Amino acid sequence: MSSNNTPDIRYLFEPRGVAVIGASASPEKISYKVVNNILSGGYRGKVYPINPKGGEILGLSMVRNMMEIQEPVDMACITIPAKLVLEAVKECAAIGVKFLSIITSGFSEIGNVEEEKAIASFALGHGMRVMGPNIFGIYSANASLNATFGPKSIQRGHVAIITQSGALGIGMIGKTSVANIGLSAMVSVGNKADITESDLLDYLMDDTQTEVIMLYVEGIRDGERLIANLSQVTRKKPVVMIKAGRSKRGALAAASHTGALAGSDEILNDIVKQCGVLRAESIQEAFNWCKFFTTSSSPKGENTVIITNGGGIGVIATDACEKYQVQLYDDSAVMKKIFGQSVPEFGSVKNPIDLSGQAHSQDYNASMTAALANENIHSVIGLYCETAVFDVNNLDKMIRENTLLYQKSGKPILFSIFGGEATENCILSLRQENAPVFPDVYEAVSCLGALMAQNRHLKTPPGAPVEAVLPISEINVILDKASAEGRHFLLADEAKRVMELCGVPMPKSSIARSIDEAVREAEKIGYPVVMKVVSKDILHKSDAGGVALDLDNREEVVDAYEAIHHNCREHNPRAIIEGVEVAEMVKKGTETIVGARRDASFGPIVICGMGGIYVEILKDVSFRAVPFSRQDVLSMIKETRIYPLLLGVRGEAKKDMDGVIETIIKLGSLVKNCTRISDIEVNPLVVYDQGSGVKAVDARVLIKGSEKH
Ligand code: ACO
Repeated sequence: MSSNNTPDIRYLFEPRGVAVIGASASPEKISYKVVNNILSGGYRGKVYPINPKGGEILGLSMVRNMMEIQEPVDMACITIPAKLVLEAVKECAAIGVKFLSIITSGFSEIGNVEEEKAIASFALGHGMRVMGPNIFGIYSANASLNATFGPKSIQRGHVAIITQSGALGIGMIGKTSVANIGLSAMVSVGNKADITESDLLDYLMDDTQTEVIMLYVEGIRDGERLIANLSQVTRKKPVVMIKAGRSKRGALAAASHTGALAGSDEILNDIVKQCGVLRAESIQEAFNWCKFFTTSSSPKGENTVIITNGGGIGVIATDACEKYQVQLYDDSAVMKKIFGQSVPEFGSVKNPIDLSGQAHSQDYNASMTAALANENIHSVIGLYCETAVFDVNNLDKMIRENTLLYQKSGKPILFSIFGGEATENCILSLRQENAPVFPDVYEAVSCLGALMAQNRHLKTPPGAPVEAVLPISEINVILDKASAEGRHFLLADEAKRVMELCGVPMPKSSIARSIDEAVREAEKIGYPVVMKVVSKDILHKSDAGGVALDLDNREEVVDAYEAIHHNCREHNPRAIIEGVEVAEMVKKGTETIVGARRDASFGPIVICGMGGIYVEILKDVSFRAVPFSRQDVLSMIKETRIYPLLLGVRGEAKKDMDGVIETIIKLGSLVKNCTRISDIEVNPLVVYDQGSGVKAVDARVLIKGSEKH
């Protein structure tokens, strides 16, 4: 057992004994296939087929009852109809089973939520962990255990796949075998009643058999734990993720811009990047990456050279390099020195190195040997278009020999070759030998891009988490008052007070309840001023005509006061108007949006991007999960178009980047520590020249209703 009475995850991947509950002698049944796969796969532990009727299966005697088993059973595969599962789970508890692999369908995926919960809660209460239900099982190379009802033969290797989709997972077993990708593990998590990807990563991150992990994910259940685990795993081995579907937008439809913008897929995309996960666009791409990772060394640097016999394909590869952030080496003097001998005069020694249509295999060999020997070049992409000059019978040999030389010296090389039947056959045969040869240039370059991205991730040390110290108890008093009044948002003055307590500067302001008071306050603050309605019943003030800007004198303040009352009464005759806020008119600067929210999948997250009234149309925002480092915040800003603006364009002064970073840190810390806050949005956060700070012009704070802090 590991801590808190849960079994060590090792027993799931390396069980000493496996029971198959519902083992049937009928070859068409799922349970028969599971037993058959376990036996054919060479599992070294004990196998116990359980069937109350007794009899035999594949030469093994059926065990009528779990209680008859005297030796340890670390895993029970359950393959009986849903209504019988709970009883069987109770029997497993009685003999100390550690892991349940519940293949049976018919639980939460069809609305049978309670039964699934009852099984998981019973199991956890009795020291057992549940995988599934609704899964195809588990394959573990370390135990030579194929406890699935997928294909009988699984190629052993170094890629671990965790999949939420069963059918797709079974398909992947077949596909990996055809693609010559060996597996270290294949785990189906299905409904994730208990065990999630995070539990499995605990084992796979230190498993020496596993070199790459591929995740097929549809929905995230324990986002905060997954983030922590992924951040750790990606420092040890690459993690490739395919995320399909879009999770619920319900929680995101909060009545704030942040909520409306926070489409879950965008959030996931940014957060997995923050963890160092490589997100593939398709299963094919994920497979390509996984295979390449297991056959290629890490590059020593970023400089890549393309060697081609065709200009066109070289241009396509150059485009692909830009897309996948593969850096092309372009020191022309060095390039001339390296390739001057091997490239004909009518070719090109600029990257892409063009050997011309006249190239033979020896020309490729000469250039590739020169590139291999030079330490300024860190990886090579070889391109080939079929020509009558190049004897296609030499193609296979040229690629194989160069691949071997490069693999031996630890320098990545990939090929993309294009042509007729002989070329296609060459791809098929070379791929069986794990040579990195692709029919499409983009496939080749995307593999190198993934390798470079992983390398960059490993070379960038993780930043220390940053958190602001905030007066949370004082902030909670403000939240308590709003909750007591049944409100799910803070009034403007309350939000302003929260910002002040967090040290986020806001414009000077006060609330006027009469025209005279408005004029007095405006004169105290100094013209120009802005005025905004204060009403619990009006959330979107501009839409209600409740905002007046740039008021320069007493007369304009008087007119605006009357106009705001008139407009808001028309907009919502029942709205109770508590007054009008008179505030300093903020000087112009760069408008950004910053915010923080509690995401349904990932917990506290922060957001930043282009601010102002077009924020929802521009959708120029980026996200990070809390906790984060200062460098995470900077990389988030860099992903948006505000970054060049903050650097200063067209001779403008550099803007106060630190002010933006500090504000984001404060908002993230606030949402992390005040669990009742669901959303904070500052829009715009006006950013002034470097050293002159920022100003939060408008802050909106939404709170969850009933929770206690
Ligand atoms: N203990 C042991 N054996 C039992 C018990 C028990 N308590 N109760 C019944 N059995 C026996 C049965 O008698 C039967 O054996 P028999 O053939 O000798 O009579 C055997 O267990 C199996 O029970 P059946 O009632 O025949 O169930 P069947 O095999 O038809 O179906 C199954 C069971 C496969 C679990 C089914 O209910 C199911 O859920 N199928 C879907 C599985 C699935 O798709 N999972 C998701 C995978 S991922 C994807 O989408 C591909």
